[in-house]
Amino acid sequence: MFQTVIFDLDGVITDTADFHFKAWQALAKKLGIFLTEDFNEHLKGVDRTESLRRILSLGGLENDFSKEEIAVFEKEKNDLYITLIDQVNPKNILPGIDQLLNDLRSNNIKIGLASASRNAPKLLRNLGLYNHFDTIVDPSTLKNGKPAPETFETACQQLGVHSKYAIGIEDAYSGIQAINDSKMLSIGIGDLQTLKDADYILNSTSQLTFDKLLEIWNDKKNKHTIPVKTD
Ligand code: BG6
Ligand code: MG
Repeated sequence: MFQTVIFDLDGVITDTADFHFKAWQALAKKLGIFLTEDFNEHLKGVDRTESLRRILSLGGLENDFSKEEIAVFEKEKNDLYITLIDQVNPKNILPGIDQLLNDLRSNNIKIGLASASRNAPKLLRNLGLYNHFDTIVDPSTLKNGKPAPETFETACQQLGVHSKYAIGIEDAYSGIQAINDSKMLSIGIGDLQTLKDADYILNSTSQLTFDKLLEIWNDKKNKHTIPVKTD
């Protein structure tokens, strides 16, 4: 039986992709870079600094700015992002998540958060979910963000659970790589093509029930074969 479920935040617990996109788009526009929603897919799960590096590289500007200027750009994006997430409230919890968190708690399964976002505690408070988590990884303490496994491994260490008894849930390509490399069971939420490396893929969080997790866990002998799309 699994002992813990480690959640990504953005795109799994609440949908902030559009807020990140709008904030990056505003900055990119000032720099003369046109950011598309397709490109935004490559920023999901990726931390702030690496996201900015990818955006500057898109515009051919990766070597044009000093460290100090980069820090100012990051702050500018984050200041706008924070004003956008001020409107987030419990109604913005994705379908099924509240119920799942309650069911995990009543079945004594530990709950962890492995987000790349330094705004995760604030967002969880706005959603009214902060106290549902037994541990929250602080991404600023990590050497390597996603796709490296460290975020998920750290969540397991903080909970005192071996990763082989853990399930990780992600919506981003980089996050699935991180979960797989940490030897946890990976569940992707969303697009089959983007998440093709996940052990299991669900269309939406509404399918993410405690019973579904049990079913997937009992079927885990299929791990690292062909991803199973369950719906
Ligand atoms: C991830 C998002 O959860 O957090 C990324 O998917 C974002 O888009 C990253 O860049 C870092 O977020 P923040 O809030 O620390 O800038
Ligand atoms: Mg995500």
